[in-house]
Amino acid sequence: MTELSISQMQLADIDKVWQIEKQSNRFPWTKGNFEDCLKSGYRTFLYSVNHELIGFSVVQLVLDEIHLLNICVKPDYQGQGFGRQILNHVLEIALGQTAAIVVLEVRISNFRAQQLYLSMGFNEMSVRRGYYPAEQGREDGVLMGLELGMLSQLGQNLL
Ligand SMILES: CC(C)(COP(=O)(O)OP(=O)(O)OC[C@H]1O[C@@H](n2cnc3c(N)ncnc32)[C@H](O)[C@@H]1OP(=O)(O)O)[C@@H](O)C(=O)NCCC(=O)NCCS
Repeated sequence: MTELSISQMQLADIDKVWQIEKQSNRFPWTKGNFEDCLKSGYRTFLYSVNHELIGFSVVQLVLDEIHLLNICVKPDYQGQGFGRQILNHVLEIALGQTAAIVVLEVRISNFRAQQLYLSMGFNEMSVRRGYYPAEQGREDGVLMGLELGMLSQLGQNLL
């Protein structure tokens, strides 16, 4: 398995991050969204292979919850196990906190991401009607969660 190099996202990285975000999402975050996350002190990580940036994650700590706000792998590198490695890193961060649960929102049409989350032990908690903009109207979002107690039980296999 190719090892990922992990570093903290800085304001100067946002242009590169945004390129990947735009290539990977029909409704990408704006540069301002990333800037706001950095200014708000969210945990923001870059993942590189051979010095090439191939993905990132953005995590917010809210009381006893960890919110995975964004996770992304550059299109050329998708389907090679990097998304799973990045999610594993986020779960390692979660294990290091006194949080009870990791939660995230995913488009109901984003089958690939949902498969990844389900395979890592996440459960569907609820459906948020019309949560996302879509080409026509709005699209539902699925709220998924992984309790960290459950993560500890699964941890030996995951991490
Ligand atoms: C979702 C995303 C992060 C997954 O990263 P990835 O590197 O492509 O995923 P991996 O190669 O690690 O695959 C992990 C799992 O995802 C699922 N998966 C991967 N490719 C898939 C495909 N083409 N179809 C269905 N499921 C797929 C599988 O369950 C896979 O596990 P497996 O290989 O053991 O079967 C990545 O596709 C991405 O950045 N997508 C665009 C942004 C996005 O949708 N982010 C999530 C927002 S909630």
